[in-house]
Amino acid sequence: MMPNDAAPTGGPPSIGEATVLRLLMIDDSVESFETLRAMLAPRRGGRRRYEITHTSDLVEGLAALQAGGHDCTLVDYRLRGESGLELVRAARAAGVIRPIVMLTASNMVDHEAAEAGANDFLVKGSFDRPMLERTIRYAIGNADSIRRLAELNATLEELVEERTRQYADANTRLTDQIAAREQAETALLQAERLQALGRMTGTVAHDFNNILTALFGSLELLRRRLGPAVEARIASPLDNAVEAARVGERMVEGLLAFARRRPLAPRLLQVNDAVGETLPLLRLTAGDAVLIATELAPGLPPVLVDREQLERALLNLASNARDAMAGQPDARLLLQTMRHGSDGVALVVADNGPGMSRDTLDHAFEPFFSTKEPGQGTGLGLAQVYGFAQQSGGTALIESAPGAGVRVRLVVPAAPLRPGPGTDAGVLAEPA
Ligand SMILES: Nc1ncnc2c1ncn2[C@@H]1O[C@H](COP(=O)(O)OP(=O)(O)O)[C@@H](O)[C@H]1O
Ligand SMILES: [Mg+2]
Repeated sequence: MMPNDAAPTGGPPSIGEATVLRLLMIDDSVESFETLRAMLAPRRGGRRRYEITHTSDLVEGLAALQAGGHDCTLVDYRLRGESGLELVRAARAAGVIRPIVMLTASNMVDHEAAEAGANDFLVKGSFDRPMLERTIRYAIGNADSIRRLAELNATLEELVEERTRQYADANTRLTDQIAAREQAETALLQAERLQALGRMTGTVAHDFNNILTALFGSLELLRRRLGPAVEARIASPLDNAVEAARVGERMVEGLLAFARRRPLAPRLLQVNDAVGETLPLLRLTAGDAVLIATELAPGLPPVLVDREQLERALLNLASNARDAMAGQPDARLLLQTMRHGSDGVALVVADNGPGMSRDTLDHAFEPFFSTKEPGQGTGLGLAQVYGFAQQSGGTALIESAPGAGVRVRLVVPAAPLRPGPGTDAGVLAEPA
């Protein structure tokens, strides 16, 4: 806080300057006042002149002190009824820091006067003009030092507050940066892990696919060579073998999809149309207990993706939501489409189910990762979603927390434009 005492214009008068000093005397003895006035009467050749105001009224004196129209105030120690000390204390308590000289009857009270807030003191009847002038000058200098100290203190407090605020801001920024960096590192690590896993999965799936092809071929050959008579006897085991090979085939497809090595047949399509057309199948998959709603953004650019794989991804997400929300009242699934950045389209599938734990979230895209009972889940659903999105030039992201549902965001790039022959308008590039 700044002292409420108005500084006199032009600052405190300095020694040696030709100047007028305004003095206020608060003293109930008119005689003392006259003595002082006589002592400070103008002298020929004197450079300093004094304008002296006098009051014997305490309230008036305090008001004048607070108004701050004087360069120095002289206060009588023993005012009528009350002590001059009380007046000084009251003035200081009110924030007055102007110079005050206490006039006392003896020098036994100097300590008391200083404690009350007087800048100096004079013993009545024992000083001459030079001593009085010197005391006034010193009191002015002393009060000025105190004022400057108070100002400095206030500035210092502001400075400390400002610095503290700056440090707090910097700290918040740093914490945010660290969090963002950790998030980016985690995402990068996961992407790298999935890529490494993809390479391995791809190789295994490829070899396994060759085995399956051989198996299918051999079984078919067997059926033909054995002829109808023998076939009737072994029809059942033969069918079992074929069925088992088909299960293997679906698994290989899932693995190839994750490894981004599934042959894709991309074609130009509107994501909104694809969602609309898949809706009946999605409703069938999700079941009656799950309410499906759509929020499809208009005017989205077309995308170049494999229609069948997009549908499969949607079905995988719908069946996951159904499993997660089994028995849950008010189960909902929301399908949204929107722009993603300047050149992407996002398809968001969000449920209001139990969400995923941190650990599940970290591994959900990995092939064969499943929290379901054996035989209930293959762990290939989200792997297909991820692989399909990646192979299509986009990506897939999961946002989830326990109790907060799951939002899977499938991002695919908008189809690139290439200039049409002889036209200014671009036409969409269809694959060869
Ligand atoms: N909508 C969802 N809500 C909660 N958990 C989910 C959801 N979708 C997937 N998960 C979790 O991710 C795991 C992997 O999913 P997925 O790859 O489709 O394999 P699967 O469904 O065969 O278990 C699931 O086992 C489940 O723990
Ligand atoms: Mg699944």
